Amino acid sequence: MTRPMSAGAGAAPPSDSVAGAWWRGAVIYECHLPSFRDGNGDGVGDLQGLIDSLGYLSDILGVDAVWTGPFYASPLLDQGFDVSDYLQVEPVFGTLEIFDRLLTEAHARGIKIIVDYIPSHTSDQHPWFLESRSSLTNPRRDWYVWRDSKPDGSLPNNWTSEAGGSVWELDPPTGQYYLHSHLKEQPDLNWRNPQVRDALFEVLRYWLGRGADGVRIDVAHMLMKDPELRDNPEVAAGAHNPYDLQHPDFGTQIHLYDRRHPDTHQVMTQIRAIVDEYPDAVTIAEIEAMPWADWAAYYGADLGGMHLPFPFRLIETPWRADLLRAELEGLYAALPTGAWPIVALGNHDRMRLATRLGPAQARVAAVLLLTLAATPCLLYGDELGMADQPVPLSQQRDYFATATGGVSRDPTRTPMPWNNDVNAGFSTADPAQLWLPTAHDAAEINVDSQLAEPASSLSLYQTLVRLRGTADALRHGDITFLPCACPPSVLAYERRSESHSMVIALNLTSEPTSVTLPSTGSVVVSTTGACRGSTGATLHLGADEGVVIEVKEGMHSHEDH
Ligand code: NOJ
Repeated sequence: MTRPMSAGAGAAPPSDSVAGAWWRGAVIYECHLPSFRDGNGDGVGDLQGLIDSLGYLSDILGVDAVWTGPFYASPLLDQGFDVSDYLQVEPVFGTLEIFDRLLTEAHARGIKIIVDYIPSHTSDQHPWFLESRSSLTNPRRDWYVWRDSKPDGSLPNNWTSEAGGSVWELDPPTGQYYLHSHLKEQPDLNWRNPQVRDALFEVLRYWLGRGADGVRIDVAHMLMKDPELRDNPEVAAGAHNPYDLQHPDFGTQIHLYDRRHPDTHQVMTQIRAIVDEYPDAVTIAEIEAMPWADWAAYYGADLGGMHLPFPFRLIETPWRADLLRAELEGLYAALPTGAWPIVALGNHDRMRLATRLGPAQARVAAVLLLTLAATPCLLYGDELGMADQPVPLSQQRDYFATATGGVSRDPTRTPMPWNNDVNAGFSTADPAQLWLPTAHDAAEINVDSQLAEPASSLSLYQTLVRLRGTADALRHGDITFLPCACPPSVLAYERRSESHSMVIALNLTSEPTSVTLPSTGSVVVSTTGACRGSTGATLHLGADEGVVIEVKEGMHSHEDH
């Protein structure tokens, strides 16, 4: 048998009792503010709506932290990821006073609030950019990335933007091009300019000083680019990753020079040093899918970088036991000593789990998400098994799609269905005023109807979140992938703390199968509702069944134990 992979092998066992490590034992909820709940009846989710939902999040679902989504002043061409004032709340989302109230009320319920930090680019309406573009000699000219065309009049380089087309936009008044890695209305800041860094560090201090419990850092891997701005190599035709849903242009080249420059890690360390001024605050870095060793580098030397870099490879891995196992083994093998991972299987930019996997396997995914040795991050609505919703072109909001022909992310972002009231309880506005239409199946798939149904997706999530909160092994135990006496359709692993052990077996197909277990115990969770009092050495798994087995003390037959 191969040596099992262990999370944090050789390190002190991770524990919530370690000062500042609340996030190791937490379940994080991505609420994606505009879609979650509208508190003032204008048709758009907002901070008041989030306050109104805290009872659901704490008492019903039982999560520990909420990642809000951006709510800063913005023209809202990219959902608020185009910031025109980092220190103000966009009126459609609320006010600073409401944000402060959110912190007070969330903290009173034991919920942490993680806000977005969007350091890579601003809106083209940000006063810094308006000054920068005003003349070649403006003191803020170098706050953004400006270049002349090449001597032959062509673009400064060949880089393609995530929103499609070139990253370069000509600004006629000064005759130079500015760089935008996303929309042309989102110019990239020049992080090689120390004044830019200082200004962005003050933004961090502002929100953490107000009491936010951490930041989710937007495209952290894009802050530092090749200083020479060399051309990216072209990609072989057909080599584009189908799970990577950017604009088709984006996949035509290997993004070697427009991101992930080694200097990025110096910046991560600086950001972390600022965050460390606020005890217990967490840094979660959004970084694209990359080799595991590169992902691990975001933890920084001596863990002085990000607390939790997102492992996007998992979202992009096809749903097969062998492939998922290989990725997870890669993750744990690369995990630096003493570090702890975060995991998400869906987010506001990607196809929803229930659409990608189907409803039965989406339940299996719930078990995976909530039983790995990693902090789970759950997208709003995934607890209901919500699927992508077709949004008619006339109602689409995602400018990446409507303006530049990219893949629309609107189908993933439709409003949270709460109940059977008008607009599924999301908003009291006229349905025509909703920022996106509610789901066509909201009458069946909503919080209230699922609460009344013990076999619902929400009930499964409730059980799993509760179990994770109380079971020592799940919350911060080691992970060991079970030797593959399992059929290829099954992903199986053990979670073990000093006092406690659980085995998880996931049938990732709709064919029933059997698995030989290293230990016997009782099935305490089954995605098909088939909990069994006790298991023998052979466990039959139904179609699309994922189970959590509480191992009976002294019943280990695992050779490593
Ligand atoms: C990543 C965010 O998740 C995405 O929604 C956004 O469009 C880009 N960053 C640009 O900020």
